[in-house]
Amino acid sequence: MSPLLEIIDLSHHFGGLQAIADFSLQVEEGELVGLIGPNGAGKTTIFNLITGVFRLSQGRILFRGEDISAWASHRITAAGIARTFQNIRLFKDLSVLDNVRLGAFAQHRYSLFDALRRSRAFKDEEGRLTRRALKLLERFQLSHYAETPARHLPYGEQRRCEMARALISGPRLLLLDEPAAGMNHSEAEDLIRIIRELQDEFRLTIILIEHQMRVVLNLCQRVTVLDFGCTIAAGPPAEIQHHPAVLEAYLGRDGSISEADEAETAAQA
Ligand SMILES: Nc1ncnc2c1ncn2[C@@H]1O[C@H](COP(=O)(O)OP(=O)(O)O)[C@@H](O)[C@H]1O
Ligand SMILES: [Mg+2]
Repeated sequence: MSPLLEIIDLSHHFGGLQAIADFSLQVEEGELVGLIGPNGAGKTTIFNLITGVFRLSQGRILFRGEDISAWASHRITAAGIARTFQNIRLFKDLSVLDNVRLGAFAQHRYSLFDALRRSRAFKDEEGRLTRRALKLLERFQLSHYAETPARHLPYGEQRRCEMARALISGPRLLLLDEPAAGMNHSEAEDLIRIIRELQDEFRLTIILIEHQMRVVLNLCQRVTVLDFGCTIAAGPPAEIQHHPAVLEAYLGRDGSISEADEAETAAQA
């Protein structure tokens, strides 16, 4: 059987800057793979390439054996790939419920004409969507915020709302871009538990970009380390964090691994 996601010799440049260089990655159905590396390594760019936000300069991306390299974003979402963003992108003035419902936009089965006529098909679909959104809110312990504008949510809840929104399209592959960023110890613990449960419950395959090593160590079966758009190491997270090339990459740049460890130690104290 072919892998769920196959990235082959991916390269991307922004003008003269080579952001990704010959990057390859295979992800099997049901895996939870970590993607780590110093700031500016190219991690978010890889998510943007997978989801069709950027056109690849070179290489191929296969999802369930199909070449999606040239597909538009909405088609990629409809095919089963969803994501969250490093910088939270909720519609701040809309309610939490509406934010989650909007995540289904690419999935709507009714036509614009149906919507305008407020046809039976549209109402049925809308009803299904609302029930599904409410269930997800319950799942993420956000029910009591359903009618609250997203801007009034505490930070950790905003991150959970983003995940609920990503899940409403019923993805097979979920791309999480630094979901624990800015979370304290107990929020990150909650997040670890939720991600693990989601993986079981929705039979999800996940690629996780994350700086908090504790989250990576707890969740990922294997990790790929990126620096300057190239893979510098790959393997089980416990081995990777002591890999000389990895330590050098982090220490030589922003020292994120040690910072994360210090933050963790401080939080546990
Ligand atoms: N839209 C863009 N236009 C130009 N340069 C970009 C753009 N997005 C990212 N870059 C550059 O590409 C490199 C990788 O960025 P990014 O993928 O965001 O890194 P990471 O997520 O690993 O921190 C950085 O040098 C960044 O400045
Ligand atoms: Mg990033």
